[in-house]
Amino acid sequence: MSPAEPRAPSEVNVDKLLELARRGQQAAYAPYSKFRVGAAVLGGDKVFRGGNIENASYSATICAERVAASQAVAAGIRDIVAVGIASSSPLATAPCGVCRQFLFEFNPDMLVVAEGTSGERHTWTLSELLPAGFEPKHLTQAD
Ligand code: THU
Repeated sequence: MSPAEPRAPSEVNVDKLLELARRGQQAAYAPYSKFRVGAAVLGGDKVFRGGNIENASYSATICAERVAASQAVAAGIRDIVAVGIASSSPLATAPCGVCRQFLFEFNPDMLVVAEGTSGERHTWTLSELLPAGFEPKHLTQAD
């Protein structure tokens, strides 16, 4: 399978995406941190949701963004245009470093929108959050 082709963010209904991220948050399994996160990923004109999934072996935890993006990729959708993130914090929660790299694979130009419970919102492009991320082209070998 070839790497995903990047696509520029198109018209994104941010209100709807964040509403779906809140629905993804309902599926969060966060008994340890109690920090519930939801994400909604837009790609191929479909939206895929997910919540964070924690584990008693803490490091095995999967963030909401990777759960939602994995749902998209598992359904054959790799042209991710935008991701919405909703958390239990009053602050808009930016994706963690691992999630930034994970999402980078599927479009460095995607729109990232986060909303806190206070209504605070932040919008970025993924490249702003992860400049010079590791790309498939870096795997090219000389021999
Ligand atoms: N978490 C996410 O789901 N997304 C992020 O970008 C940051 C952190 C989750 C992981 C863990 O279940 C909890 O939030 C506390 O770190």
